[in-house]
Amino acid sequence: MNDIAVSVRDVSKAFRVYEGRNRSLKAALLSGGRGKHSEFLALDDVSLEIPRGTTFGLLGHNGSGKSTLLKCIARILTPDRGSIAVDGRIAAMLEVGSGFHPNLTGRENVYLNGAILGMSKKEIDSKFDSIVDFAGVERFIDQPVKNYSSGMYVRLGFAVSIHVEPEILLVDEVLAVGDLQFQEKCMDKFSELKASGRTVVVVSHAIEQMRTFCDSAAWLRNGKVVDVGDAMTIVDAYADAEHHVRRVESGGVRFGSGEAMITKIEWLVDGTDTRTSKTGDEVTIRLHYHSEAEIARPTFGVSVDTRDGVFVWGHHSLDSGYVAESIRPGDGTIDVLIPALPVRPGTFDVSASIQDGDASHVYDALQKAIRIDVLAGHPFESGGVTTFNSRFANLQPPRPLVVSRLDEPVR
Ligand SMILES: Nc1ncnc2c1ncn2[C@@H]1O[C@H](COP(=O)(O)OP(=O)(O)O)[C@@H](O)[C@H]1O
Ligand SMILES: [Mg+2]
Repeated sequence: MNDIAVSVRDVSKAFRVYEGRNRSLKAALLSGGRGKHSEFLALDDVSLEIPRGTTFGLLGHNGSGKSTLLKCIARILTPDRGSIAVDGRIAAMLEVGSGFHPNLTGRENVYLNGAILGMSKKEIDSKFDSIVDFAGVERFIDQPVKNYSSGMYVRLGFAVSIHVEPEILLVDEVLAVGDLQFQEKCMDKFSELKASGRTVVVVSHAIEQMRTFCDSAAWLRNGKVVDVGDAMTIVDAYADAEHHVRRVESGGVRFGSGEAMITKIEWLVDGTDTRTSKTGDEVTIRLHYHSEAEIARPTFGVSVDTRDGVFVWGHHSLDSGYVAESIRPGDGTIDVLIPALPVRPGTFDVSASIQDGDASHVYDALQKAIRIDVLAGHPFESGGVTTFNSRFANLQPPRPLVVSRLDEPVR
């Protein structure tokens, strides 16, 4: 059975819900101080199996039991009924800063957290720089973490978790807190873990991310499994039931909190949406978006990578000084105007994103959504990714060669 990393069988977990918090002293005394309570079933006979080396998503509304299930798998909570078998070293990223002590410094917390997750002092010593580097908190590492922003908390916590090199990594939503760059880094790390045969169990509201990233998924409602299976099927079923979620024609990976989403990317040349272009073309990249809520000061972003992942260009509306006051719920578009496409022939991937006003929260990031083939145009230059629109000029005739010794061979 060792092709199954986590096996959850008939698991139920109830919480006590106390009624009448403002009971009178008399009532409290009469009831023997215990108070009336009812049982609330947060998990109701849940069974599922997570195959080793796969990425497994948990979907469901708030309160559907996702976090409770992760905590049971991580053995932070004990189920009332049923059993959970886990085969492999686990690291869990459950809540922002869980396991962090606010008064200790970042450095101390790395050691404390690392030890809790089963790393030796030596192991942490050797990974310390890499952890701090991944989290990007070098300058703050000797400050108490209570001074950290929630983003810094998450980054440091996540950095420690992945450096445990867990065989099974549990991640509960927290990643939504990080910025675009950090989320990209996490996605890369997940891919790396996946490629090296690790198992990742992830809870996210970014359901398109789940769709493209997870192999399989389970959909929970009121503590019960509605459906479990192939991620695309489960996510689509969940999205249909949820109505509001738009699907996009793309093979890319996406993530983000989803209040607003990029629904389509057009690459317009002479008014036509095309996937082939020429060097020097006047191009309009048109982003179509759909917003569920009013979004204040949204930041739109676009970037282009070569097919082998070299970051060629990126721009967002904040840097461009083009900030919309707000967008209302509904559908809209925004254009990015490129006067003359300055890349040489090759294949390029286009990504787009919507973030908040200071680009610290990602509503939607759609990576490598469309692929463009660029053919030879003007200017035509010889090599590389970009064109400089250069020319050769001013050839000077060679100076006469000064030969001092005629008997030495000329090189
Ligand atoms: N410690 C607790 N005490 C009482 N109720 C809890 C506790 N933890 C979770 N719950 C309840 O259990 C349900 C499932 O919660 P949770 O697993 O956090 O859902 P999700 O992560 O899907 O949003 C919710 O109704 C929540 O209020
Ligand atoms: Mg939760």
